[in-house]
Amino acid sequence: MKQEQSKITTINGLGTIIQKYGTVISRPISLDHKVRLANAESLNQILADTMTLRDLYKKHHWQVSGPTFYQLHLLFDKHFGEQAELVDAIAERIQTLGGVAIAMAGDVAETTLVARPPRCREDVTVQLFRLLQAHELIIDETRNAAHAAAANGDDGTNDLLVSNVLRVNEFEVWWISEQLTGAGLADGNIEASKPAAKAVATHSR
Ligand SMILES: [Fe+2]
Repeated sequence: MKQEQSKITTINGLGTIIQKYGTVISRPISLDHKVRLANAESLNQILADTMTLRDLYKKHHWQVSGPTFYQLHLLFDKHFGEQAELVDAIAERIQTLGGVAIAMAGDVAETTLVARPPRCREDVTVQLFRLLQAHELIIDETRNAAHAAAANGDDGTNDLLVSNVLRVNEFEVWWISEQLTGAGLADGNIEASKPAAKAVATHSR
């Protein structure tokens, strides 16, 4: 990522860019440019993955089926709302640091590390495994980014990552994994969990 301040650029005469993605402008918040740049970059990865998880919850809210339809339809939408709040908080922290928050679906699709689900409708067990997989990825990167922010003195970013992003994701994992009791994950039965895990790993659109 270039350490470049904002420039005014014309694109095909259609408008001006006042700041390039991947840069941070000055902010009088007593944090070095390189600290704000590094933390904005980490936050943008977490933002892209959180937006993908948010949308995964809405997909599953619409497409869920089976005897647990009613409870999961409601639970998935509750988690969608909580992830949407995290998206806004993370994006606004990036802007606070002087960065540019990733925003549009195409850019998010190119950036996210969450595996792309198929367009088709999946079995509820596969839906739940897919959500847990995305949560764990985000929890890992959030802990790493929180440790880095603590080490480089960015207490505000550390607080957001620990108090909001990490805690909400861990809490949601509890609610989702309890739905899978008996399916091989919550009860530690690795053999029983293999079919769903395989379905998550290999799918066709
Ligand atoms: Fe709905």
